[in-house]
Amino acid sequence: MTNLESTLREIELRVNGRAHNMPIAAHRTLLEVLRDSLDLTGAKSGCDRGECGACTVIVGSQAVYACQVLALQVGNRPVVTVEGLATSDGYHPLQDAFLARDGGQCGFCTPGFLMAAKALLDRNLEPDRDEVHRALAGNICRCNAYGAITQSVIAAARAMVARGQTQ
Ligand code: FES
Ligand code: FES
Repeated sequence: MTNLESTLREIELRVNGRAHNMPIAAHRTLLEVLRDSLDLTGAKSGCDRGECGACTVIVGSQAVYACQVLALQVGNRPVVTVEGLATSDGYHPLQDAFLARDGGQCGFCTPGFLMAAKALLDRNLEPDRDEVHRALAGNICRCNAYGAITQSVIAAARAMVARGQTQ
């Protein structure tokens, strides 16, 4: 057995409502496993050192940088990525709002912003601008779409309240 094989652990990772059983090397990040093993490439590797937020996903109820979490640290907490936002009924209101207001321009940062915003709206459906800014403070947009992003999040929250949608 090689050193690398000896660090493999069998885990069950629950992502977007689906369980994946697989051997995982102890050093692999959640971002690497999502992108390279599960082919969920929505979360992006922008910096790989916890500075840009492009890799943001939801673990449990928290928005986290997937590049800074080892897959083994996830445990039995459910993971939601941007691929889990839309349903058979269509896009999530956040996605509709980003599309309607140009909240995504080149789009590289968009999955991370969407997931940070989703974590906010999951706990607060009536955020003011300051609360949106604080929730998204860990995400960087190199296209400087911050104004449209903030407006999109507030519009999505209002749409969800209007239709009685909580998630
Ligand atoms: Fe994770 Fe930048 S890629 S914070
Ligand atoms: Fe291009 Fe944000 S839309 S980096």
